[in-house]
Amino acid sequence: MITFQAKTQGHQTATLILLYKDTTGKAQHPLIPKDVTEPIKDLAEKKQFDGDKGVLFPLMINDQLYLLVGLGKQKDATPTSIRIVVRQACLSAYLKNTPSAEIIPADHETETIIAVIEGILLGTYTWDKYITPPKENAPIKDKDYVIITKKKKTYEDSIVICAGTNFTRDLVNDNADTVHSEFLEKTVRDVIKGHKNTKLTVFGRKELKARGMNLHLAVNQGSRYEPKLIIVEYNGDKPNNKYSAIVGKGITYDTGGLNLKPSGYMETMRMDMGGTASVIGTMQNILALAPKKNILFACGIAENAIGPGAYKPGDIIKSFSGKTVEVANTDAEGRLVLADALSYLTETYKIKRVIDIATLTGACVVALGHDYTGLMSSQDDFAQKMLTSAQATDDRAWQLPIYPELKNAVKSKIADIRNLGFAKGAAGTITAGEFLRQFTNDVPWAHLDIAGSAWVDGADRMYFGHGATGASVRLLTHFLRNH
Ligand code: BES
Ligand code: ZN
Ligand code: ZN
Repeated sequence: MITFQAKTQGHQTATLILLYKDTTGKAQHPLIPKDVTEPIKDLAEKKQFDGDKGVLFPLMINDQLYLLVGLGKQKDATPTSIRIVVRQACLSAYLKNTPSAEIIPADHETETIIAVIEGILLGTYTWDKYITPPKENAPIKDKDYVIITKKKKTYEDSIVICAGTNFTRDLVNDNADTVHSEFLEKTVRDVIKGHKNTKLTVFGRKELKARGMNLHLAVNQGSRYEPKLIIVEYNGDKPNNKYSAIVGKGITYDTGGLNLKPSGYMETMRMDMGGTASVIGTMQNILALAPKKNILFACGIAENAIGPGAYKPGDIIKSFSGKTVEVANTDAEGRLVLADALSYLTETYKIKRVIDIATLTGACVVALGHDYTGLMSSQDDFAQKMLTSAQATDDRAWQLPIYPELKNAVKSKIADIRNLGFAKGAAGTITAGEFLRQFTNDVPWAHLDIAGSAWVDGADRMYFGHGATGASVRLLTHFLRNH
């Protein structure tokens, strides 16, 4: 838990003092307790601690633990670097058995305080549901942090947004046979419970069939779970104002289908519902923050499994939109589910813009790695607004092109369109984007490919540990509140 206090009380079991390198020696900060001002100056003079980035220096004064935390030079500190260092400090051995800590930030810019909050709440998130805790000396979880600064509404919002982000991470991290379509439907029901300005629609196999959403059905044919399209209308504004819509890829497991993924490529594919999980986390945020907007949240859920019923490479399938699709590869399944969802939403509702979010292509991981989400849009000013939200929230995105000639890349000889790009290994991310664009009924559209950014393997990246990151939840929450 995080709370705010204008002045230090010294009651907490530890006090973290964040210091920039250039000002450490002066220890000029009025909030720094008198007891430590002299020792800090002393240490700086002796060059034992002078605020180098990431350096932690514990001090025990009058039975109180002070942890000096170096942020590096102020001019070099970024919102990202502050998050990273705060995370390191909170996870350090010095705080292992500390139930509560006070944090004195190095300045009181809103951006800095939000970096501290996210460094704590996103940085100390761990996925340990299946780890048996040690009987003795288990690290204390759910610590109480007191940030010494004036409380602001934006900080309370920031705490809400971190909770939504971590909720998304929980959904992505858990087993595919736990987080199946039924579970996700129940999750959505729980999130919207008590919110009178929401309306839920759930299509199962029967409803999808009745509407001709055959792409979505085809992907799920090998699964024992039911496919689902879940739609939540959030009506925060006047009814005549059009919706912004977000729709997430929700492949609860992606084996690749009959174009089966090899070992080494399948093991993390329970994360292939990351788009849907980000939609659900964003929805939880929006319901809590209650902006005056009309927003549609949609989740296209299926499992890409193998079995006698599985759809087959070479199949031609008629989509909801009426276009026929050649399934050149059953592993390019996300775009099929999203295509039906996008055309259904844009045809059925009054929508002013639609954003899809998906762990769509391995090519995006190759192009951008794990630190940036791939962003594509049919309209440049739309993309610019999304990039502004990415920057404001430190939830990074990088724009890739969509242009008229790309149409040729998804042409088929035997159907209206093909689910695979024309040349193997060439521009897999933007050809997938172009495929989706053709199902948007010319509604302004943006596409977030989170294949790389939704998941970190092994080594820590930025301020995330192993596993799900909740990619684009902060970005989408910011965008939807502001546009
Ligand atoms: N879910 C994968 C994309 C993916 C790969 C997400 C790695 C996260 C990490 C997607 O359904 C897929 O398999 N895409 C294929 C498309 C190809 C067959 C055109 C890919 O990227 O190889
Ligand atoms: Zn796939
Ligand atoms: Zn997939």
